[in-house]
Formats: sequence, C-alpha cells, structure tokens
Amino acid sequence: MPKHIVLAYSGGLDTSVMVHWLKQNHGAKVTAALLDLGQGKESIDDAGKRALANGATNFVVLPAKEEFANDFLAPSIRANAIYEGVYPLATAIGRPLIAKKLVEAVQKVGGDAVAHGCTGKGNDQVRIEAGVKALLPGLECLAPQRSHPMTRDAVVEYAKKNKLQIPQLKRSTYSTDENLWGRSIEGGDTEDPAHAVHEDAYLWTTSPQKAPDKPSSMSITFEAGLPVAVDGKKMALWDLVAYVGKIAGANGVGRIDHVENRLVGIKSREIYEAPAAVTVLFAKKALEALTLTKEEMKLKPFLEQKFSENVYDGLWYAPVMTAIRAGIDAMQQHVTGTVTVQLYKGNVSLLGRTSPLSLFKDNLATYSVRDSFNHGASEGFIQIWSLPTETANAVRGKAAKKPLVTVKAKAK
Ligand code: ARG
Repeated sequence: MPKHIVLAYSGGLDTSVMVHWLKQNHGAKVTAALLDLGQGKESIDDAGKRALANGATNFVVLPAKEEFANDFLAPSIRANAIYEGVYPLATAIGRPLIAKKLVEAVQKVGGDAVAHGCTGKGNDQVRIEAGVKALLPGLECLAPQRSHPMTRDAVVEYAKKNKLQIPQLKRSTYSTDENLWGRSIEGGDTEDPAHAVHEDAYLWTTSPQKAPDKPSSMSITFEAGLPVAVDGKKMALWDLVAYVGKIAGANGVGRIDHVENRLVGIKSREIYEAPAAVTVLFAKKALEALTLTKEEMKLKPFLEQKFSENVYDGLWYAPVMTAIRAGIDAMQQHVTGTVTVQLYKGNVSLLGRTSPLSLFKDNLATYSVRDSFNHGASEGFIQIWSLPTETANAVRGKAAKKPLVTVKAKAK
C-alpha cells in the first residue's frame, strides 16, 4: 500500500473528490499537484483551498507553461502533428508533460505512488502511465476512476455524503479538456455521430454562419519551423498561439468533427476546437512547399505520421521519437519565411508566401522573357529518364513495333 500519493489534480469535480477517496481507501497522505498552464491565480487558489479542505496533506502548483510551449508544443508544430488527418493532438501532447511533472513532484515530496483521474476507456490513462513508467520505472500508478468507476451523479453523491468541497457545477453535459493548442469535447450529443452537435459544445469558435461578413487576414512569420511573429510583431510562442486562436476562432476557423480510433480499440466521436492549430499548421505547410526540396517533401509525411501516431499512442518518451524528431528538425531548419492567410467564415485560405530560403526561382518557373531554363537540356533528360521503361517494354513485348516505311521510287 502506498504511503504518500501524488494526485494529478485539476481542481475539477472528479479530482476534488478523489483527494478524499484516495485518503480514505488507501490510508495514505495525498499531495494534490496542479499544473499551472496559465489558468489564472484565482482559479488556482480556489482549487488549492478545495484540495486542502477535502483532506490533502499538501497542495503544490507545478509551473508548466514554458515547458509546455517549448518542449511539447514546439516539437509538435515542427512535426505538423495531426492524428488521422484532422486532430491536432492538443490533449495528447499535454499528457507526457503531466507524467513528467508527477514524477518530479513525487520525488520532491518523497511520495511512493501517483494517481490520476482518467477512466479505463480512454487514451489519457495510457499516455500518463506510459510516461510515468518511462521516467520512473516501478512507480505505482493509481487510477480510481478505472479501479472503482463512479458516474458523475455518484461522485456528486459521494461529495455530499462526505461534506466535500466541489467546484460550482456547470450545466454542461460535455466532458472537456483544454490547453493552449486546443479543446476536446466528448459526451452528451457528441456520442451520436449521425448528427451535428449543439452550438453549446463550442466555446472557442464562432459558428461560421455568425462569423463576420468581412474576412480577416494575418501574416505569420516562421523561423526554422516555428511561428515567431504576426503581422511583423514578434511574440513568444504562447502569446502568438493565443492571439492567432482568438482571431481564427472569431472567424469560425478550427472546428473539427471526427470519428476517432482510440488506442483501446474503440471508435469514438470527438469534437475539437483548435483555431490556432488549424491556422498555424495550414500556413506552415504552405511555407514548406516553398522551402523544402521535392525529396524532403516526400519523406516528411512519413515522419510526421509516425510522430503523430506515437504522440496519440502515448509513446512520447519512446527512443524512436529522438530519431523521428531529429529528422523533422533537420528539415525544419529551412522553413523560414512569412505566410499571409485569410480567415473567413470557417475557412482559412492562402493570400501569399515569401521566404529568404525560397526554392521557387522566378527565372526557372516563368514563361515570360525572364526565362533562363535550359529548354534544350530536357531532350537528353527525357532520353535517359525513359530508357529503363523503353528497354523493358521492348523486351517484354509491351511496346508497339516501329512501322516499316517503304519508300517507293518515284515514277518518271
Ligand atoms: N480523444 C482525444 C484524445 O484522445 C481527446 C481526449 C479528451 N480527454 C478528456 N479527458 N476529455 O486525445
């Protein structure tokens, strides 16, 4: 039995009650550890008071904002991380950071187990626990919502019975998770993939129908694969993502409706809002087309897909990620330049892109008098390029025979 448990504490209903439940059922000290991802002092203070009132020995705040931006979000942006073609992985990239912070906290307070609020049916339990195992092998992981599942009503009932402090309950039927990069929405009417979800599900994006009739545009500058400025104004990654997200969201950009293949084998209907992710990655891909070679462009999707699947599947700390990231980073060194996009009623479109490292050369591409492409050289190129096919098809009888030309002597 563990003696001192560090709980990944969000201050929400489940983990507020879990503080008490862990103490009761394990007879252990409980440290409630809250990740500070910029949610504001007031909500952190309230969460702390609740944890202590419900029986926590300690309440610790783990600063995580910088680390999230630099060590988790930045590599994911470089990798154009998207799962199954649509989900920008916001929730998924937060989990290995939770694992890391839990391990740090357990070592700091001298604990011997960690706990989290995930259920036994989702991806998050895997991501957190696989992360913990990678960073501190042998550390015990407790998941009360997996070992002793309770419905929302049962949790509220438990809180009442034990006179626990819980946050003010919102009427929402949705289960949500959010961080700077995006918002995940599950439960309620999202569970029926046959129908669109209610407008209430969305908090970060205006419905495209209600979005402004006038488009917004912005120029995003990238350096080595990361966005560094908007409309010429330099910003830290965190602020830039928040700023782009506001404008894109107001224009209805970033709503995603997906039936997703979870790690535990089930398909689930998921709704996401990721206005900044959709806009930033759209712009960056346009810049990559300008700055990466044809062969780099062909290699990139393989690495990106492996990166994304591994993030989704809880393999952030797997050794292969070092190799994948090295490959991606080597290419991203050249992704520098500015992309102007237009945001309009749910769509993001391209207005232009420039780069000091552009591989697009006007004198080679133009059909005008500026053209300096060596047209004649193409003749020899085609000869050699076609040679293997020409040879094989002739040998295999696939090529037509050359017509015999009979030259008749002219009558006098
Ligand atoms: N399906 C998404 C994922 O696996 C989002 C999960 C949302 N998590 C949550 N606890 N509500 O990454």
